[in-house]
Amino acid sequence: MDYKQHISEKLKIEGVQPEEIALLLALPPNSDMGDYALPCFKFAKILRKSPVAIAEDIKNSYVCDEFISEVSAVNGYVNFKINKLGLAQSVLSRIEKEGVRYGSSDLGKGKTVIVEYSSVNVAKPFHIGHLSTTVIGGALYKILEFLGYNVIGINHLGDYGTQFGKLISAYKHWGNKQLVENGEIHAINDLYVRFNSEADEEMQEEARNYFKLIEDGDEEANKLFEWFKEITLAYVSKIYDKLNIKFDSYAGERFYIDKMQPVIDELKQKNLLKTSEGAQIVDLEEFGMPPCLILRSDGASLYATRDLAAAVYRKNTYDFYKCLYVVAYQQNLHFKQFFKVLELMGKEWAKDLVHVAYGMVSLEDGSMSTRKGKVVWLEDVINRCEQKAYAVIDEKNPSLENKEQIAKTVGIGAVIFGALYNSKIKDVTFSYDKVLSFEGETSVYVQYTCARANSILIKSGQNYALPKNYQPNAEESEVIKSLAAFPQTVADAAEKYEPSVVARYAVDLAQKFNKFYINCKINSETGDTKSFRLALTNSTLQTLTNALKLLGIDVPEKM
Ligand code: ARG
Repeated sequence: MDYKQHISEKLKIEGVQPEEIALLLALPPNSDMGDYALPCFKFAKILRKSPVAIAEDIKNSYVCDEFISEVSAVNGYVNFKINKLGLAQSVLSRIEKEGVRYGSSDLGKGKTVIVEYSSVNVAKPFHIGHLSTTVIGGALYKILEFLGYNVIGINHLGDYGTQFGKLISAYKHWGNKQLVENGEIHAINDLYVRFNSEADEEMQEEARNYFKLIEDGDEEANKLFEWFKEITLAYVSKIYDKLNIKFDSYAGERFYIDKMQPVIDELKQKNLLKTSEGAQIVDLEEFGMPPCLILRSDGASLYATRDLAAAVYRKNTYDFYKCLYVVAYQQNLHFKQFFKVLELMGKEWAKDLVHVAYGMVSLEDGSMSTRKGKVVWLEDVINRCEQKAYAVIDEKNPSLENKEQIAKTVGIGAVIFGALYNSKIKDVTFSYDKVLSFEGETSVYVQYTCARANSILIKSGQNYALPKNYQPNAEESEVIKSLAAFPQTVADAAEKYEPSVVARYAVDLAQKFNKFYINCKINSETGDTKSFRLALTNSTLQTLTNALKLLGIDVPEKM
């Protein structure tokens, strides 16, 4: 229920649009005054009356209904009280009825949205830098799907480039099958790192040849490359499973190699290509940007060339309504450039490409030992969170059954939530203690609230029906208002491409529920009060579970 919309549409103020009224509606300084207050000062000029008189008029003409139970006028403000009984009835029965679907809608019906995310690089570390794209993209996928969109998740693998020639050369000199199979991606990365520090000119030349062999379709070189790719994918898949992430396509950069020529031809035909120092470029000076490089002087394609081909391919294949690229803000310019090139090519759908940029994640504990050099592997961060979660749970509740499994759920949740809680464009410092705190703004706090709600329901024996005439008190009403806001919250998160909106909502609802829990008895009550409170507890558990699920986080029954 959108009260602001309801009130603003019902009020007819001459010369003022309902949208304008909705924007003016605010929370009164204290909830005794009402739930929404409308300041009338702005209307004085249009209506040629004093704000006090306008507020009086509005109060007198407003007819209360199932949503608004009381209207008062005070010092130029109109205060509206919402019908708490009516709201409680409609929200709680809706949650009971909709269950795991509460908050969903069919807003996106018939529309396809591509979410390109994670996009790891073959044979390179899956490091902490990929955490945000992976969990933000994963959450957007789930949120959009919940809103009825047809979502296609694409992992735009970094599987093309001269580094694969280097890797083959390093493998031939220093590697063998056994070593790579045992060491998985770490062994491959070691070879690559070693090449970069030890390769002489001869090996560099060899690497260039190997890369050329891959491009020319040489069987052995391609077999090796495919093998490295397989090992990388097997490794990252385990992490994706842990993070509850899935993809519908792993079409990476290499997939577009044979799809670039038509795009290059079209650029030529539309007179957009220019030669500059032997290279082919699209001049973007007019738009205040450096040129977009399409072909190097040796004829090789570039990152942007492959992205142009990918965008065209995706439009033809999926006919998307939106195509989201969840990629770090460091690549802002790259996206601006190739979006502009598509626009210059006359692709009207270029406006539907969205760069969902996010900030950097760094570890507070910079000294953390990493297996390989300076990069922090995501796997290590996850393992460490799981271990720490185990220690925290063991200390709090040593006799808990299934501790190992619960620690995993809590640890993974902390990794995801830690990367999602802040508005995505902010740089964040990841702190193990902070993300695993039971008290802070964390998934652990939300999960713990769920476990509490669950235990209340189990203790009650769970036989209650929502009473028809129970008037909620202040704490209960706060929870109800928050529950009612969930569907709109999910829609807002999708509109802003901002999963943190859902994360913050979950913490806020959990806080309101805990306030209620501290101030109101539940199982020691009787009759309607008890039934109502159990219904409220059940609906809160359901809504928190739905919210966390959208972020890829599970809820343990006990903690
Ligand atoms: N693989 C790249 C990286 O790790 C990200 C790819 C982003 N997506 C794109 N369509 N350019 O930096």
